[in-house]
Amino acid sequence: MEQKYAKLIFEDEGKEILLPIVVGTEGEKAIDITRLRRDTSYITIDPSFANTGACYSEITYIDGERGILRYRGIPVEDLVEKTSFIETAYLLLHGKLPNPDQRSKFSNLLNVNSMLHEDMRHFFDGFPRGAHPMHILATMINALSTFYPNVDALSLSEHIDLSAARLISTVRTLAAFAYKKSVGEPVVYPRHDLPYCANFLNMMFDSPVAPYEIDEEVVKILNVLLILHADHGQNCSTTAVRIVGSAQVNLYSTISAGISALSGPLHGGANQAVMEMLRKIEKDGNVQKWVDKAKDKNSNFKLMGFGHRVYKTYDPRAAITKKQCHEFLKKMKIKDSLLDVAMELENAALKDDYFISRNLYPNVDFYSGIIYRAIGIPENMFTVMFALARLPGWIAHWKEMVDGDNKICRPREIYIGKPLRRIED
Ligand code: ACO
Repeated sequence: MEQKYAKLIFEDEGKEILLPIVVGTEGEKAIDITRLRRDTSYITIDPSFANTGACYSEITYIDGERGILRYRGIPVEDLVEKTSFIETAYLLLHGKLPNPDQRSKFSNLLNVNSMLHEDMRHFFDGFPRGAHPMHILATMINALSTFYPNVDALSLSEHIDLSAARLISTVRTLAAFAYKKSVGEPVVYPRHDLPYCANFLNMMFDSPVAPYEIDEEVVKILNVLLILHADHGQNCSTTAVRIVGSAQVNLYSTISAGISALSGPLHGGANQAVMEMLRKIEKDGNVQKWVDKAKDKNSNFKLMGFGHRVYKTYDPRAAITKKQCHEFLKKMKIKDSLLDVAMELENAALKDDYFISRNLYPNVDFYSGIIYRAIGIPENMFTVMFALARLPGWIAHWKEMVDGDNKICRPREIYIGKPLRRIED
């Protein structure tokens, strides 16, 4: 295809340059500024990167205007219907769904890597009571790197199935152990005879005095939630992973950085914040008051689970979780008053000019917490669930970066501080 250019005119200097236009698979356009500074001495400025494409990627396509999300070209709606989380993880990592042989090899790798080094179990004793599981998780993943000290980024990428299986499997075990520790119950070890999600549920809820009965409906909905959260392009935590990984930090410490980024309430922490907000609103009983508060620029309050940097329409993941939430609660014969509050809040917000004019719709976190609550996952574990789900995405992006023509990420800045001055000034 013929190369097209954008013309950049510098009025003050009376010069102009041509910058190449690049076009993505789905027609997304960008201006390639890689030689801008070299040719002109200018840089671009875009705090919080709303207009900046940080990389080329073949992993996930998002159309925020039309509410489209596809992993490796496949709509997330189809993946939720027809695949398990582990198959979707494989798809993200390899670009294609596994055949039966590849699936069974990958499952086997997950099984043989599901145990924690026994010494790591003692680390849990060092955390204070009430420590947030996301901080425990980030610390423990960083600690994992000390158990695999000699694996450099390239060798990990060469053996991506093993690296991914180790992380995906160990994080699941860590998460369940952290929960057991927090409720003062003995840990439950992983079982080789159970598939990924069933194994996690068993580690979370089985106990020596009350054996856990695995319910296929619960396994199914957990698969759905994990698939929906498995990747989302250059979000804050994935960008953190790419930036930290670009310094050739080992994969475990890199993922730990992603987990830290995800823990924030503006990112993955929103699912927990949604539940806290819904409970407050339920107690207060006045939904409109909270909608008004979210609009009030003098208040710091925002409707948690609403709005998205990329989606300017209904988040396709929220559409699925909303539907699945209703169906699951009905099947399980669970009545949750917080679902009524959530629906009332959504209806009130979506009728309001403030939300309409700013294209603010429910995001993935708005309904996911109600499902997790119905499964029995405690609220402080919600973001950990998100981290479990996002691991394949983070690892796929890390691999794409490491295998590509990668340079260390190092943005510039425009200095607006004091000009030169002396100590005595
Ligand atoms: N409640 C009320 N107002 C909102 C909300 C909200 N949830 N979200 C955005 N707005 C308003 C902003 O105040 C701003 O108003 P203004 O134009 O009058 O200044 C306008 O909408 C645009 O919002 P920005 O903050 O510029 O949007 P941005 O893309 O920077 O932020 C974000 C996106 C962080 C998700 C934001 O919508 C938010 O804080 N939402 C609540 C937290 C949340 O649900 N986070 C989860 C995101 S999804 C995820 O990470 C998995």
